[in-house]
Amino acid sequence: MLEVRDMVCGYGGVTALHGISLEVKAGQLVALIGANGAGKSTTLRAISGLVPLRAGSIRFHGQDIGGVRPPRILAAGLAHCPEGRRVFPHMSVEENLDMGAYLRSDRSEVAADRDRIYSEFPRLAERRKQAAGTLSGGEQQMLAIGRALMSRPRLVMFDEPSLGLAPNIVERTFAIIRRIRDSGTTVLLVEQNAFAALDMCDYAFLLESGRIVLSGSGAELIANEHVRKAYLGG
Ligand SMILES: Nc1ncnc2c1ncn2[C@@H]1O[C@H](COP(=O)(O)OP(=O)(O)OP(=O)(O)O)[C@@H](O)[C@H]1O
Ligand SMILES: [Mg+2]
Repeated sequence: MLEVRDMVCGYGGVTALHGISLEVKAGQLVALIGANGAGKSTTLRAISGLVPLRAGSIRFHGQDIGGVRPPRILAAGLAHCPEGRRVFPHMSVEENLDMGAYLRSDRSEVAADRDRIYSEFPRLAERRKQAAGTLSGGEQQMLAIGRALMSRPRLVMFDEPSLGLAPNIVERTFAIIRRIRDSGTTVLLVEQNAFAALDMCDYAFLLESGRIVLSGSGAELIANEHVRKAYLGG
């Protein structure tokens, strides 16, 4: 479904990704793990068209999306739930959800999707008129997830969805992400919580200093000596 080949990206004089390749097959939950600064967010930003490619290619659903503008990538069915949630703080919960569907013209279907998200996240339904900036961190994460789903993506990318959340909310967030995969939406998940990500994924890639150094099933990576020492606390 998504195929990244030899992708090079950077910021000014800094090269953040030194020619990475990865693949996400339809229906899978694929994890991308790595330390701070490894290039995980840059990878997701480049796939969504927010960071330009210096070399390499990105194919999504049979289409070459390297160099394509972000709205067209979203319209092709690839949504991005960014690091730090990035809800629009002064807009209401409902307006934030509707922003996720801004490219859609099927208004009645959009309303039905919004209702589905409200039934999945009752806290959001109760707060639908409330400014998003007044929500708790966990509620903002639910809103960011809901907003990403409002585009009806084929593939959704999550950047550190558990960051800064209380342990019980982290568990809930991971359960929701598994459910999204189980409902047929393909997922690319970036996580600091390497064990949780490896435990729930179908396949995983390890990024170190802008290079993919290892890939395999979650179980293979959990069993790997280097992964255990560097990412799973021995
Ligand atoms: N806007 C930017 N301008 C300059 N350099 C940047 C920018 N964003 C990221 N970088 C650099 O690119 C490299 C990769 O950063 P990136 O944010 O992709 O890492 P990450 O794996 O997501 O890290 P984290 O786990 O901290 O979120 C880092 O060296 C970082 O300093
Ligand atoms: Mg990051």
